[in-house]
Amino acid sequence: MMERISLKVNIAGVELQNPVMPASGTFGMESAEYVDCSKLGAIVPKSFTLKPQQGNPPPRVAETSCGMLNAVGIQNKGLEYFLSVTLPFFEKYGVPVIASVSAYSEEDFMTIIKELNKKKTALIELNVSCPNLKEGGKAFGQSAEETYKIVKAAKSVSEIPLITKLSPNVTDITEIALAAESAGTDAVSLVNTFLGMAIDINTMRPKLGKITGGLSGPAIKPIALRMVWQVAQKVKIPVIGLGGIASGADAIEFILAGATAVQVGTGNFVRPDIMEKIISEIEDYLRKKNISDINQIIGGVIIE
Ligand SMILES: Cc1cc2nc3c(=O)[nH]c(=O)nc-3n(C[C@H](O)[C@H](O)[C@H](O)COP(=O)(O)O)c2cc1C
Repeated sequence: MMERISLKVNIAGVELQNPVMPASGTFGMESAEYVDCSKLGAIVPKSFTLKPQQGNPPPRVAETSCGMLNAVGIQNKGLEYFLSVTLPFFEKYGVPVIASVSAYSEEDFMTIIKELNKKKTALIELNVSCPNLKEGGKAFGQSAEETYKIVKAAKSVSEIPLITKLSPNVTDITEIALAAESAGTDAVSLVNTFLGMAIDINTMRPKLGKITGGLSGPAIKPIALRMVWQVAQKVKIPVIGLGGIASGADAIEFILAGATAVQVGTGNFVRPDIMEKIISEIEDYLRKKNISDINQIIGGVIIE
């Protein structure tokens, strides 16, 4: 009988009591009514931009087979609100808070990071899936060159370790991960949503107001897992895995593929207390396998 199982992991010098945290945009202050936030590995609130923004026209979500499409469009109350309301609200739980930053230009990313430096959030996650409006509107994270440039610029001002959150809507995600690593990112997280579409055949119209949107949930899990595995082979920095995780077994798959920590997104909408369940299922798995430290299985997939 093993006495203690350690779920502690380390991301860029920040110790997490366990590897489970929410994925940005799926967990807000209202979630704290259903989840004991002090039990989480970290807290990742919704991405914010420099100024408040309204987001996209409705409908913004549509259900799909084993998943959902969303085109929320980073509706948020801006940096000021994050600093004065969201951050203090979550910091009281005593677990690391990761600021998820979205911006449409290098300047906005820099301005936000300089303000975060003053508050010292534990980590910053750069959401590089936003369009770079100064460079024709293609997402930063869809080009290795733009990813390199934005991470390098962010790194030059940030006093806080950076996680770069990668977009899966690319030909070879390992190229983008390597670009982010060589620009100095301290960790990568992947994946953001896959661009998709759904049509209502009765009205013959797209189901989303924005026509296309991001696919998430169990439907994307095998693709996300494959990408995490590929990236983990190539980079030396920690990888945070996500995409369709809804159970301890799903989380373990990502960890075996090379993820040091995992994020849970759409799963929170299905069952708001799912992360606590996932944490205890990870612990049960390790106990059954007679493994005392989760770090022993990171990247442990056996390939013969
Ligand atoms: C409704 C909704 C809103 C989201 N908002 C954000 C966001 O603000 N920033 C971000 O980086 N990702 C956002 N995402 C993407 C998730 O963080 C995550 O990368 C994606 O949903 C895949 O994980 P999942 O399959 O566990 O949901 C959002 C996803 C959903 C479903």
